[in-house]
Amino acid sequence: MTDLADVSDLHEPHLLAPDRNLGMELVRATEAAAIQASAWVGRGQKEKADGAAVDAMRAFLGTVHFDGTVVIGEGEKDNAPMLYNGERVGDGQGPACDIAVDPVDGTSLTAAGRNNALSVIAVADRGSMFDPTAVFYMDKLVCGPEGVGVVDLERPIAENIRALAKAKGKEVADIVVAVLDRPRHARLIEEIRDAGASTRLLLDGDVAGGINAARDGSKVDLCVGVGGTPEGIITACAVKALGGVLQGRLAPKDDAEREKALAAGHDLDRVLQLDDLVRSDNTYFVATGVTNGELVRGVERTPRVIRTESIVLRSASGTVRRVVAEHRPEKW
Ligand code: FBP
Repeated sequence: MTDLADVSDLHEPHLLAPDRNLGMELVRATEAAAIQASAWVGRGQKEKADGAAVDAMRAFLGTVHFDGTVVIGEGEKDNAPMLYNGERVGDGQGPACDIAVDPVDGTSLTAAGRNNALSVIAVADRGSMFDPTAVFYMDKLVCGPEGVGVVDLERPIAENIRALAKAKGKEVADIVVAVLDRPRHARLIEEIRDAGASTRLLLDGDVAGGINAARDGSKVDLCVGVGGTPEGIITACAVKALGGVLQGRLAPKDDAEREKALAAGHDLDRVLQLDDLVRSDNTYFVATGVTNGELVRGVERTPRVIRTESIVLRSASGTVRRVVAEHRPEKW
């Protein structure tokens, strides 16, 4: 039953006029990409897995009512036949958006038959995403809302762990930190363990690692270390919806990249905050599991159905949706 108080609430404009959740349409594109990539799980051919995902994602994006420009895609037009940077996607009508795609985040994981591969799309208002083309890697720190005003990329990792533990009301020993398992992180991993926290080493896939750090109900508290800049911007679209922290600092891999970044006007010492990575507060993030992971389950096939699990985040509402879909194998 609706009482008077509830009725007056309905006069709030955002309650009276619920608008469209673009993520609910985009999820069909990540589902399609995950289903097609899943045929290549464990087959040792990451280009085939990626290619199948790209084709499927692009076909479904064409059905979505929006005017998208790919700002993070498969690379430059000459090297990428589809979903290249600058490509227009969608039906060309409706809201003008930047779109970042990672048809498979974890192509090597997929090829090897390992966990944690995802198909991902992030969308924000046109012109609002940071241009990641100058520097491939970024040093990142991601955690949930408890870390706002508490953690700082410029402080030593041990201090951040202690501060976050206090803010979360946890013992330091219970803090779990996700880090890509790379030689460049040997010292960082040592420092995390010396501080008394434990690590969750990721073979690949720091988009899922970052979101797990930011979302409610995961075992991971913090995700740190150097990973892809494009993945950082994609993760930022999700963190905007989850209300957490993502800080990044560009990490050029050599002098040539450093020069390129300086020429493009980047300040390499600056800690980039969420709003620097995605200016818009109107973001969507959609991911479907290719293989099983802590964030979402991977594609499952039975003789009668292909089952997918996806997560759909929208910053305007802060809603986190999980979408489980059963697809008819004969249609694929
Ligand atoms: P792709 O599967 O899209 O190539 O990316 C996997 C990934 O692990 C990202 O999640 C991460 O940001 C990046 O690669 C790290 O790069 P590197 O493997 O060079 O350390």
